[in-house]
Amino acid sequence: MKFKLHALAAATTLAMTPVSQAADVEVLHWWTSGGEAASVQFLKQQLEGKNVGWTDFAVAGGGGESAMTVLKSRAISGNPPTAAQIKGPSIQEWGELGFLASIDDVANAADWDNLLPSVVSDVMKYNGEYVAAPVNVHRVNWLWANPAVFQKAGATIPTTWDDFMLQAQKLKDAGFVALAHGGQAWQDATVFEAVVLGVGGADYYQKAFVEGDMAALNSDTTVEVFETFGKLRQYIDANSPGRDWNVATSMVINGEAGMQIMGDWAKGEFKVAGKNVGTDYVCVAAPGTSGSFTFNVDSFAFFTQSDDAKSAAQGVMADAILSTEFQEVFNLNKGSIPARLSMDRAEFDSCAHDSMDAFIASSQTGGLVPSFAHGMAVSEAVAGAIYDTATNFFNSSDSAEQGAKQLVAAIAAAQ
Ligand code: GAL
Repeated sequence: MKFKLHALAAATTLAMTPVSQAADVEVLHWWTSGGEAASVQFLKQQLEGKNVGWTDFAVAGGGGESAMTVLKSRAISGNPPTAAQIKGPSIQEWGELGFLASIDDVANAADWDNLLPSVVSDVMKYNGEYVAAPVNVHRVNWLWANPAVFQKAGATIPTTWDDFMLQAQKLKDAGFVALAHGGQAWQDATVFEAVVLGVGGADYYQKAFVEGDMAALNSDTTVEVFETFGKLRQYIDANSPGRDWNVATSMVINGEAGMQIMGDWAKGEFKVAGKNVGTDYVCVAAPGTSGSFTFNVDSFAFFTQSDDAKSAAQGVMADAILSTEFQEVFNLNKGSIPARLSMDRAEFDSCAHDSMDAFIASSQTGGLVPSFAHGMAVSEAVAGAIYDTATNFFNSSDSAEQGAKQLVAAIAAAQ
């Protein structure tokens, strides 16, 4: 690990530096939807209030695949941004390559080890030192529903996959889009992940899709997963291919569709649309997953800088991210819950409370699992194998047996 200058020491330097010399931070992210942009705007404001300017390096494309491609080219050309939205095992991969700067001084000065649950803090460290700051905890296994649409269709909001098919058919027969969906690989993988968890359960999910246990993957359960996943093809609309996730969310918001299976960044879209949870929309655990929580922690990793002032600005940014003010306001806009423990819940809505409760409950039952669709569980290569298999299957008429066979082969080749 190459450390040019520890962020805290540099931050001290900054504090003594005349105001005009404060460095800017250039930040790569992919938060371009309404709710996402509102969230990132607050981080910009926080930093400007601390005299750190923000150069926005936004690369659109939900799920971040395009952003990561651009980041790699910038890093390889020796010109990485100050910080980038990097999550889960990718933090280790970037650390191995020697690109990341330690913010351990800032983290230790603020006692992050006690402010964060270990399932979060462990991911933020490389070689035992903090190199990234967590902004939130998203829950991915959610179903978002428009109750007025269900009422018009005489349907009820499903809690099992068998019931999902019955209720989706009622929505479809009533002329609604049953399942709002964007036909992009990461969205197909997000829905696939919910089916894996709901059909196979948390133990199977962990063994097969986190540990890559080939016996668990090569099982009847995987065939059952593909059987359920394949049935969903009939409940999306013909305009789904290429649709962005937040456009699918707007279909539920405007009453064109009954439901969407998506992480709780979708709640940020309901919020910017002025919708109220409980009346305009409801959030329920994706079918069969109420006791589980697929977690997706957004974080900013810091790239080694040659300029002391930029290293100092990294420390200011890391410190601001873990502040209670940022953790509250950012997550109220983003739809996620704070990464920081013991936050006041008063301003958060019932979906956030459900998420906070499920996070704690599932951590005690084994139901808290990392999202493989959102970069938290496996290497980029294995995640890519799952993405390719899920999206190829969903866009074909392949049988469940064929899907399961392709998944096993693709993961085996990627491991
Ligand atoms: C996830 C990311 C979320 C949200 C979502 C849609 O990977 O963690 O914060 O941006 O993609 O783009």
